[in-house]
Amino acid sequence: MSALRLGSVAPDFEAKTTQGPIKFHEFIDNSWAILFSHPADKTPVCTTELGEVAKLSDEWKKRGVKVIGLSCNDLDLHEEWIKDINELSNTNLQFPIIADPDRKVAHLYDMLDEQDLTNIDEKGIPFTVRSVFIIDPNKKIRLTLQYPASTGRQFTEVLRCIDSLQLGDKNRITTPVNWTPGSKVIVHPSVSNEEAEKIFGEGNVEYAKPYLRFTTLKNGS
Ligand code: BEZ
Repeated sequence: MSALRLGSVAPDFEAKTTQGPIKFHEFIDNSWAILFSHPADKTPVCTTELGEVAKLSDEWKKRGVKVIGLSCNDLDLHEEWIKDINELSNTNLQFPIIADPDRKVAHLYDMLDEQDLTNIDEKGIPFTVRSVFIIDPNKKIRLTLQYPASTGRQFTEVLRCIDSLQLGDKNRITTPVNWTPGSKVIVHPSVSNEEAEKIFGEGNVEYAKPYLRFTTLKNGS
């Protein structure tokens, strides 16, 4: 297995999902995508997470992001569990969930748990951790997160990461600690002061240090 480095192409695969068989690259098409795993169906933290991801459907849409989940359970359990998620989170889960009982995709994306001895199936085979892969329309992996089974994710952080990546693709900027959309951004280190004044507007570059220059984007974008 080669390393899934940021900037490398997300490995393609075929899989069964709750919305029919997919080829992953065809599924991504020309969109952004998040592929995320959770340990297992009908487990407590996972149930709260998937309800939240479903409830954020307008937010994914707004950003042009296709969402796909994965666990190492089979389709029949996924189907049963989606009913529980919808009931408990008062939602209508619309994204596909990959059924990966043989761990084919989990191995490919290095998602299997090696530390939590409770995160295993009835045969003692590890389930997945909570991985997130943010993939761009060129099918490149742009950001990854990995949380243990014990810790539910904050999916608004995933949205914030997508906002930062998309903004950085459009503008020669980076985003500082705790950045939120609309707040100050940082002029990319590759941009000279002269270029910065041209790009962002004269007087719209704040020189905190020669290497730390803040600016504000018009309409925040
Ligand atoms: C959970 O989703 O609650 C969970 C799943 C596996 C191990 C620990 C917690």
